Amino acid sequence: MLTDSFKINSKGHLTLGGADTVELAKEYGTPLYVFDENDIRNNCRSFKEAFEKYYGGNAKVYYASKAFSCKEMYRLVNSENLCTDVVSGGELYTALSAGFPAENIGFHGNNKTPDELSFALDSKVGRIVVDNMTELHTLNAIAKEKGVCQKILLRIKPGIDCHTHDYIKTGQIDCKFGFALENGEAAKAVALACSLENLDLVGIHCHIGSQIFETEPFQDAANIMISLAKDISENYGKTLSEINFGGGYGIKYTSEDKPVSKDESIKILCEAVKAACEKYAFPLPTICIEPGRSVVGASSLTLYTVGSVKEIKDIRTYVSVDGGMSDNPRYALYGAEYEAVVANKANKERDFVCTIAGKCCESGDLIQEHTSIQQAEVGDILAVLATGAYNYSMASNYNRIPRPAAVMVKDGAARIIIERETYEDLIKKDV
Ligand code: LLP
Repeated sequence: MLTDSFKINSKGHLTLGGADTVELAKEYGTPLYVFDENDIRNNCRSFKEAFEKYYGGNAKVYYASKAFSCKEMYRLVNSENLCTDVVSGGELYTALSAGFPAENIGFHGNNKTPDELSFALDSKVGRIVVDNMTELHTLNAIAKEKGVCQKILLRIKPGIDCHTHDYIKTGQIDCKFGFALENGEAAKAVALACSLENLDLVGIHCHIGSQIFETEPFQDAANIMISLAKDISENYGKTLSEINFGGGYGIKYTSEDKPVSKDESIKILCEAVKAACEKYAFPLPTICIEPGRSVVGASSLTLYTVGSVKEIKDIRTYVSVDGGMSDNPRYALYGAEYEAVVANKANKERDFVCTIAGKCCESGDLIQEHTSIQQAEVGDILAVLATGAYNYSMASNYNRIPRPAAVMVKDGAARIIIERETYEDLIKKDV
């Protein structure tokens, strides 16, 4: 199976975190997102432990909550002593509603509105990662009005091109996020930030992309960011104490994927930071990272009920499920690969090649094409694996399909963490 969390029980059913997924589908209905709590906790711990081992623990791990944001997720991450990164007023509101300590929240975004900035200051968030010149001015003015001084980082585009999907690359100059290094934008931003009285520049940030399997881009980032920090200390007399390297650690969506372990990724990052600090004679900063997908993505799945099997002779067979791009738009958006299993026949051969289609009124509403699963029939429960990141968070009500429920499983027992949307919910805001 894809990861150790997925197993097959004596009934031949797929289990996740010890829970029989066919039983989960019966009890909670489909479509259903299922998460394995122990695995999420282990992921949080693996990052923290690696920093202890390789950097004496002088690090902050921010869970990038855009991957999966709901109150229970913030509570869980907080109980593991992680910080969290939010990227909108809505994520900030959810985190605070779950009791997440504001000082452990980092606020991101390339176009935070004045209202969002004001909300962040009123909430006393620990860090704001500033994206552009306008934001520097606006944030300073709002902070001045409120009589506070806000700790900030500047988002830098380090000019690194990593091998991932174009839509999720963020480190290169042609990208909407942050200040570029090579055209002098970053230097101007630093000068301005240092001159603004109600902002306290404590660090710099970069995020090179997502679902990355290579380690070199992180090593390059370490070198570039420490070199920039050294320049800032020489030119502005400011020694930055935090360098944030963003997220991006790849996970296993299919058996072909070979992600670098968290231990190894962090080891390499810490070694690269230490080497760069020695090279540029810069004091070791607090290393921050913002993993999202690698915390919540791998040991999770979505359960669907098969509603029709349509064979188009010599062309393909469509297996249609009761969800689709409304709960997982990633194939439509990125051609993302997934493995699927007929949960009630998990012990059988996966020798049935088909295209898994959703129920949305759109031909591109596919979950996977030409994929091998067990022979599927109407009424089967289909599990699409590793859907924990960027599925619920990118779900929509297209075709007025209610968003699925989500359950957290721990040692075989499940509990609801997000209720299924109802038709009533769909019309709540209609006038
Ligand atoms: N930090 C920043 C500033 C980010 O922009 C992101 C992701 C992360 C951290 C977390 O990256 P992760 O560790 O999850 O790779 N919707 C796309 C992914 C977009 C990622 C956006 N930023 C997908 O479904 O693949």
